[in-house]
Amino acid sequence: MGTTATRLTLDYAFHIIGLEMVWLKVLEPNAAGRRAYAKAGFQEVGTMRSAGQWRGRRCGEVVMDAVPEDFPAISVFEEKDERLL
Ligand SMILES: CC(C)(COP(=O)(O)OP(=O)(O)OC[C@H]1O[C@@H](n2cnc3c(N)ncnc32)[C@H](O)[C@@H]1OP(=O)(O)O)[C@@H](O)C(=O)NCCC(=O)NCCS
Repeated sequence: MGTTATRLTLDYAFHIIGLEMVWLKVLEPNAAGRRAYAKAGFQEVGTMRSAGQWRGRRCGEVVMDAVPEDFPAISVFEEKDERLL
């Protein structure tokens, strides 16, 4: 579900409103988040050390970015438009 929601967000960002780049940060120990965002089309670009907290302990925050060239999905919005024609 997280992967699908993130992929739809990037689809909207790149195909509907034409953003050139989207970035996020995620706590370093959040393996499910990092995996979901990577599957959706984000790449990890670096870690801000000791920038966050996870279960009461300091941890890094991973910065991830996505650009249209890397985005693998065909737009669901375009598919929907074609069905309406
Ligand atoms: C982050 C979050 C949105 C991801 O949503 P999700 O529905 O779990 O995402 P998906 O199921 O699409 O993908 C998660 C992936 O991480 C994997 N995963 C889950 N827990 C994992 C763990 N502890 N270690 C490694 N991988 C893990 C899953 O197996 C899946 O990968 P796969 O499809 O290759 O098997 C969800 O876990 C969540 O709401 N977490 C709590 C709040 C949060 O972290 N928000 C984000 C803040 S940046």
